[in-house]
Amino acid sequence: MGEGGRSGGGPDLWSAVDRYLVERLAPEDATLEAAQRESREAGLPPHEVAPNQGKLLGLLARLARAHRILEIGTLAGYSSIWLARALPPEGRLVTLEAEPLHAEVARRNLERAGLAGRVEVCVGPALDALAQLVAEDGGPFDLVFIDADKPRNPEYLEYALKLSRVGTLLVADNVVREGAILDAGSRDDRVQGIRTFLERLAAEPRVTATAIQTVGSKGHDGFAIALVTAEG
Ligand SMILES: C[S@@+](CC[C@H](N)C(=O)[O-])C[C@H]1O[C@@H](n2cnc3c(N)ncnc32)[C@H](O)[C@@H]1O
Repeated sequence: MGEGGRSGGGPDLWSAVDRYLVERLAPEDATLEAAQRESREAGLPPHEVAPNQGKLLGLLARLARAHRILEIGTLAGYSSIWLARALPPEGRLVTLEAEPLHAEVARRNLERAGLAGRVEVCVGPALDALAQLVAEDGGPFDLVFIDADKPRNPEYLEYALKLSRVGTLLVADNVVREGAILDAGSRDDRVQGIRTFLERLAAEPRVTATAIQTVGSKGHDGFAIALVTAEG
């Protein structure tokens, strides 16, 4: 049950509250602002996390004492910057992106952020890169952020588990989709991907997980978070 506050609400209020919170607790510096600007100028969609969500990712990485992070879905590298900044100097982030233009913008943004040496942007379908990582014994990662094409989330979960250890944190974005996930008969393959992903997460004995719905500048959505508790 919530505590006090304005009744009614809605997207304008959510965005105003996000601005208030971001200004105080998660302000963007010039590098993050430039990353957003580059992304818009290159015509990329505004699908990056909000600043306070980016800061949460960084906090989770620090709580997990992450040295190796895997990100599935780079876009312009905005969340990559938040995550990579949370790494120790010898830490590494591997981020997977299908679209060459997105990867190119991300590389520029990461270079400007002084993080190019810490981040590897892999261009191509994430499933190919993940299969290669497994074949090369490229794990384990300490944190995996799943934020690419939602229909493939169930497969990304399988690969994330293969590339994990006990203690790895898995985070998946956009798991509420304005409540569309309630529609079992949805013809939206992103909704079905998220529904299957959540069901597999619930049935998976190797993890303990929850999901939180959020409102804010990115509308009504949510994220799932899981801790790997047992070996496969
Ligand atoms: C929601 S955006 C990622 C946002 C980014 N994590 C952030 O918060 O700044 C999703 C990205 O995944 C990429 N993508 C979609 N399908 C993919 C696939 N099969 N393999 C790799 N990347 C994919 C898209 O091109 C897009 O750049």
